[in-house]
Amino acid sequence: MTPRKIIIDTDPGQDDAFAILLALGSPEDVDVLGITAVAGNVPLNWTERNARIVCELAGRADIKVYAGCDRPLKRKLVTAEHVHGKTGLDGPVMVEPTMALQPGHAVDFIIDTLRREPAGTVTLCPLGPLTNIATAFQKAPDVVERIQQIVLMGGGCFEGGNITPVAEFNIFVDPEAADIVFRAGVPLVVMPLDVTHKALTTKARVAAFRALGTNVGRVAAEWADFFERFDKEKYGSEGAPLHDPCVIAWLIRPELFTGRRVNVTVEVQSELTMGQTVTDWWGVTDRAPNALFMGGIDADGFFALLTERLGRL
Ligand code: RIB
Ligand code: CA
Repeated sequence: MTPRKIIIDTDPGQDDAFAILLALGSPEDVDVLGITAVAGNVPLNWTERNARIVCELAGRADIKVYAGCDRPLKRKLVTAEHVHGKTGLDGPVMVEPTMALQPGHAVDFIIDTLRREPAGTVTLCPLGPLTNIATAFQKAPDVVERIQQIVLMGGGCFEGGNITPVAEFNIFVDPEAADIVFRAGVPLVVMPLDVTHKALTTKARVAAFRALGTNVGRVAAEWADFFERFDKEKYGSEGAPLHDPCVIAWLIRPELFTGRRVNVTVEVQSELTMGQTVTDWWGVTDRAPNALFMGGIDADGFFALLTERLGRL
């Protein structure tokens, strides 16, 4: 099977880093056309740096990394240093990247790539706020129908929110951008907190990263050790949820996940529920389904895949 052509749009973030490594460790499954950084977990100057660090960690300084939007469409940027640390990749000491950032804006790379590649052959994989994606749609509406699929991490249904009682971080940071993307009519696959909160870095799973005996395995374990503090304290969970690599794992082994096609609509009016992904799980409205919304994961299968692919780097 030919590898699926993807663009990873990301705000690294330790969990984004796992997703990028999983993709780069799976060349027979995914062909990473480029990585576009967006402001989110940490400001853009850190997310674009971090994306390059992760590519070099994977031995892939050839990957094109672009800097994108440094703030949401309308709102003030909200970041998550309390979860990811000041750099966004706290835990192990990371060396500064030597590979160059690509010239040009990430949004233009997304537009140009979608116009150049045959229609219906490129999948967008947003792992952060949807600002770059929505900006591309506003600047070049013609590219929307050329997208094969958008497979994103964001939102929540029964799990509620992680930055407000009802909103998940990626959607909350730029709800207007999320609203544009969810209404665009592109085939959507959504990996919400309902799934990612079941993908926890338990001690045994982190030990499996370390047991790889590689630099990547060591760094992955140290990211997990740092990244779990917030969720363990807040949820009392055993480990941290590895949100973003669920997106890439779905591309490689969709059978690890279960979900259903439902309508997902983003709250952009009420400050009380701003950024909530209102998910019609039981089909009680006349709103047409617009997303394959995931609810279940084979967590052991997911970590076995992730660890095996990390082991290749
Ligand atoms: O809410 C979790 C999401 O927000 C993840 O993508 C994490 O990296 C942050 O971007
Ligand atoms: Ca992210």
